[in-house]
Amino acid sequence: MKIAFFSTQPYDRHFFDCYNDPFGFELEYFDTPLNRNTTGLISQCEAVCIFVNDHADAATLQQLADKGVKIIALRCAGFNNIDLGAAKTLGLRVCRVPAYSPEAVAEHALAMILTLNRKTHKAYNRVREQNFALNGLLGFDMHGKTIGVVGTGNIGKAFCTIVQGFGCKMLAFDLVANRELEQLGVEFVPLIDLLQQSDIISLHCPLTDQTRHLVNTETMALMKNGVMIINTSRGGLIDTASVIEGLKSCKIGYLGIDVYEQEEKLFFRDLSDDIIQDDMIQRLMSFPNVLVTAHQAFFTKEALTQIALTTLKSIDELHRGNNLTQKAALLV
Ligand code: NAI
Repeated sequence: MKIAFFSTQPYDRHFFDCYNDPFGFELEYFDTPLNRNTTGLISQCEAVCIFVNDHADAATLQQLADKGVKIIALRCAGFNNIDLGAAKTLGLRVCRVPAYSPEAVAEHALAMILTLNRKTHKAYNRVREQNFALNGLLGFDMHGKTIGVVGTGNIGKAFCTIVQGFGCKMLAFDLVANRELEQLGVEFVPLIDLLQQSDIISLHCPLTDQTRHLVNTETMALMKNGVMIINTSRGGLIDTASVIEGLKSCKIGYLGIDVYEQEEKLFFRDLSDDIIQDDMIQRLMSFPNVLVTAHQAFFTKEALTQIALTTLKSIDELHRGNNLTQKAALLV
């Protein structure tokens, strides 16, 4: 059976090739993203494997189904970029990798907090220039601060567990409170309370109609002055234009983003010789208190291993008509 991979990078190919032997699939890699203009690339594929910025809308899925595709495998946890209703109507099976390494993303969120706070990125460059002065590097103790976590699923839970070691007060908001975290001392509160009381807010909920632009002018007005906002989830959780205004007025004291609303035109590419046309990202990167990483929170050896293994196993199980071992992996 042949699987077509879209939006692939050399590391995707390495890890999938590495773990494919027991399955014996034919793997065909395209570096181009999947959308309604690129479905023509594939032929005689039963499965298509896509990533975060591929567009599996109804028209694209229809074209894939017409070409005989039966399985769409997302090699990521989020599934905001696929029309599941259309997939169901077309009889396509859709799977994802629900939890490949929640710790990888949680640890990256923490790395962003510590970098923004203690300015280790600036210190590194300064010392290399033999500038040993401390002016401008002043941070704050994490100990005793209030951290608000929006979304306490796999990643939010891992994040809470790590940050508790810093002696922070933990607030959380989710549609369903997590009893295990409550027993660890995490307090589940209404979103408004979390926004008002947190020194640092870390977003770990999926992008849905309810969460789109969760950080906007109105919600920012509720936050503490100088709040730190961390988004390792999906770019659409933040209204970028409002956040730029919040940074200019110093309402937001620090912003760490691993995801960006218009990231599909930028991330996972080397654009160092290009003229970037996206003025919002350029404005964001011009602030000294903004840290942007290019959707790398998942990027650990352990996570890539798990992504390859789970994806191949799920495709194999669906191909054989079996139930998925990992129940949460099946979306349709
Ligand atoms: P999960 O499904 O385990 O947890 C999501 C949690 O968000 C659930 O507890 C759910 O109840 C909650 N939630 C849903 N709607 C909500 C709302 N309106 N308000 C508050 N909470 C809400 O997902 P997981 O694995 O923790 O991943 C979270 C997100 O992280 C994914 O949806 C994905 O977008 C993002 N992600 C980013 C990565 C990166 O490399 N930057 C890698 C992996 C995931």
